[in-house]
Amino acid sequence: MINRRIAAPLAGVLVGSSLLLVQPAAASPQASPVRPGAEKKPVAEGYGGAVSTVDLDASKVALGVLRQGGNAMDAAVAAAAALGVTEPYSAGLAGGGFIVYYDARRKKVHTIDGRETAPKAMGPTSLEGIPFEEAVTSGLSAGVPGSVAQWELALRKFGTLSLKQALRPSIELASRGFKVDQTFYDQTAANAARFKDFTSTAKLYLPGGAPPPVGSTFRNPELAETYRKLGKQGGGWLYGGALGAEVVATVKKPPVTPGSTRNVRPGLMELADLKAYRALERPPTKVTYKGMDVYGMAPPSSGGSTVGEALNILQVLPKVGEHEYLEASRLSFADRGKYVGDIPGVPLEELLSDGFAKERACLIGERALTSPVAPGNPDGTYGPCAPASSAEATPSAPEGPETTHLVVTDRWNNVVAYNITIESTGGNGIVVPGRGFLLNNELTDFTFGPAPGDPNLPAPGKRPRSSMAPTIVLDDGRPLLALGSPGGSTIITTVLQILVNRWDLGMSLPEALAAPRATQRNTPQTQAEQAFIDRYGAELTERGHSLVLNPEIGAATAVEFLRNGKLQAVAEPTRRGGGSALVVSERR
Ligand code: DON
Repeated sequence: MINRRIAAPLAGVLVGSSLLLVQPAAASPQASPVRPGAEKKPVAEGYGGAVSTVDLDASKVALGVLRQGGNAMDAAVAAAAALGVTEPYSAGLAGGGFIVYYDARRKKVHTIDGRETAPKAMGPTSLEGIPFEEAVTSGLSAGVPGSVAQWELALRKFGTLSLKQALRPSIELASRGFKVDQTFYDQTAANAARFKDFTSTAKLYLPGGAPPPVGSTFRNPELAETYRKLGKQGGGWLYGGALGAEVVATVKKPPVTPGSTRNVRPGLMELADLKAYRALERPPTKVTYKGMDVYGMAPPSSGGSTVGEALNILQVLPKVGEHEYLEASRLSFADRGKYVGDIPGVPLEELLSDGFAKERACLIGERALTSPVAPGNPDGTYGPCAPASSAEATPSAPEGPETTHLVVTDRWNNVVAYNITIESTGGNGIVVPGRGFLLNNELTDFTFGPAPGDPNLPAPGKRPRSSMAPTIVLDDGRPLLALGSPGGSTIITTVLQILVNRWDLGMSLPEALAAPRATQRNTPQTQAEQAFIDRYGAELTERGHSLVLNPEIGAATAVEFLRNGKLQAVAEPTRRGGGSALVVSERR
């Protein structure tokens, strides 16, 4: 049985009365605003607001903002900036991301697209023939950063803090430093070979030639100063100003360490590309699953459409278990590959229609389909069940656990689900000299080609297709759940699997996050964690699935609105070192 929130009378009063509350301008957040004793734990229950991120310091920053009267958007932006300090290999001001936001006052879901863009000089063949790994560590893969414009737009539209105020806790965090944990150490060590090839990166992240040891304090005074100046001067400093000029210079002539033999391709970004950048508000995707409204991110992300299509497929099946979850995901990925990208005319409505879902669902039988399966035809005319046809295999880029996701909710019941990324762990590996932050390599999310007709080939100003899937679920118009994860295209399956675990397999939200994962993305084999193989491997193999080990999939964060105004913030108990859930108050 699923344990859906029942709208108890008291909860209704609370939600209703929150509409009458005016959200005041928050006091300017101070550093260390949270009890120093607050510990890293994966589940927290309470009232008045909640946060879940992968990192205790970032969660504390968000909580501090909430406690000082800020709203969920203020706290989310402040936490994102903090993650730029403590999780610099996943997030940062030179990256991008997607926000899905529930505005409690207007009872409306909004999204903000802060995805990086290709420079004007980039065309469909710009990445052709370049080895993927070579593109990763290059100026060429650096997209025009979106995060700062996204923060400014998010705060202007939905926040109460200025950018300067929202950055303040992170300035303190970067100056004071944070304790190096095993995850930070491991990520630095895994990147050491390329970090040493850039003078600026080696200086910052390999002090004395090696990763900072676990337990040491890592300070980034240059980033503190960058945030301070950004707060003072605003986004214009990056989007056409002096900081932008430094980014462009770094992209065009990466600071390669003398003697390095790495082939570092220069980028095509110009100051005009930065000037032209805009974060965009877009309508969310929406599907209704078992009576609940699931909102996600529309193109250029494939997150909302692919999670949504898979849910629609599952909804028409007589029962939902692991086999069905994998099959629905397989089919949705076939459609994602063919139809979704940052292009006009993505058939979003049809991809998310019940008719299309039925047509796709009738391909699912007792035995696993053989991937790659061909995409369907979301043309509005849905006929009798046709046998599944196969498609040509397309190579898929390797997926890592990079990127990050956070959720925040406040006392007014505003909710933010926010995916932030610089793409690979460590982005393109290049720190802007003297500025304390890494550049992204987001343009490696484009299809390199040649791939005629592919919706995700590079083009001037185009945003690479993303898989990020920040998701908010409303039940009866009220927030019920918000969630998301890192992990490249496994983001989609992680979000889907958590929803299936929660709603179809009867797990609590903490159980749904902790449960072993598998990911089927229209590839011949299904990747799965060892515990998933141990538990379901024999039965699924019997049904024609081929499981291969992926040691760790995703690093989700989530929040659920329980009964009577109680919040349950949830992070990973163990994956990627475990995350940090906090609530404003444990008591009502
Ligand atoms: O936008 C995306 O889908 C990816 N650039 C996110 C990066 C990520 O999760 C790590 N993956 N490889």
